[in-house]
Amino acid sequence: MRLEGKVAVVTGGASGIGRAMGVAFAAEGARVVVADRDEAKGSSVAEEIRGLFVHVDVTSSKSSDAMAEQVFGKFGRIDILANNVGVRVVKPFLEHTDADWDVMISTNLTGPFLCSRAVVPFMQRAGSGRIINTASIASFVGRPDRVAYVAAKAGLLGMTRAMAIDLGRMGITVNALAPGSINSPMNAEHAADEEHDWGKETPVGRWGRAEDVANAAVFLALDESSYITGAEIKVDGGWVSTKARAGELGD
Ligand SMILES: NC(=O)c1ccc[n+]([C@@H]2O[C@H](COP(=O)([O-])OP(=O)(O)OC[C@H]3O[C@@H](n4cnc5c(N)ncnc54)[C@H](O)[C@@H]3O)[C@@H](O)[C@H]2O)c1
Repeated sequence: MRLEGKVAVVTGGASGIGRAMGVAFAAEGARVVVADRDEAKGSSVAEEIRGLFVHVDVTSSKSSDAMAEQVFGKFGRIDILANNVGVRVVKPFLEHTDADWDVMISTNLTGPFLCSRAVVPFMQRAGSGRIINTASIASFVGRPDRVAYVAAKAGLLGMTRAMAIDLGRMGITVNALAPGSINSPMNAEHAADEEHDWGKETPVGRWGRAEDVANAAVFLALDESSYITGAEIKVDGGWVSTKARAGELGD
């Protein structure tokens, strides 16, 4: 039980990778807050892991602040924040609307900033904390038909590095995970066959699983990871390092 006594907030914890993070943190003894806008799914995950569901819309500073206050009010501490919420628009460049662009940036980039700004004062008071941002392989390479998503995820990596500097002396580490194509609801149309396309192109020969990302999140959340900050871990089966080129299927 390597996270005994810790309180972990997972945004987007109702589904996919966030759900797996909640399960993994809970298995290591953490009390987990499933923070999501989907109350039905979020409550059900919280019940499953004996955690707490808190409604949040990460695009709103008011909602993010209220979420942090509620968690601290309940537990008196916030040790880990997994900024995992993400949404994706896939369409040709010229079909991206103003609204598409705004949703990609406000959810995937502004959201992690707002939730971090809401939670950091509580971590600062404790003199320690772990912030784990779910970026993407799209933080490193361009991907087709995802201009706003790629822009937001590249920005998230920059924000991770800048926050690591600003928060390091507070005992707070800030790192990013960069999943490749993960078998989650976001990829429901492709991922049924783990070897389909992405799996074939990837050194390990399969799609990623939400648990692959969750295991890396646990590692970054540990007390023992206190000298790792401003870093990114690719959880992509080796794809970026070996095969990155435009025009391939994936995230
Ligand atoms: N699935 C992949 O292949 C993949 C690859 C790389 C990166 N990622 C990233 O991993 C993260 C999780 O992806 P997933 O596949 O598990 O997604 P998912 O769609 O299964 O889950 C996303 C969750 O975020 C919640 N959410 C969306 N907007 C919200 C908002 N404004 N406020 C609060 N909650 C909100 C949804 O209700 C949902 O529960 C995302 O950041 C995504 O960009 C996923």
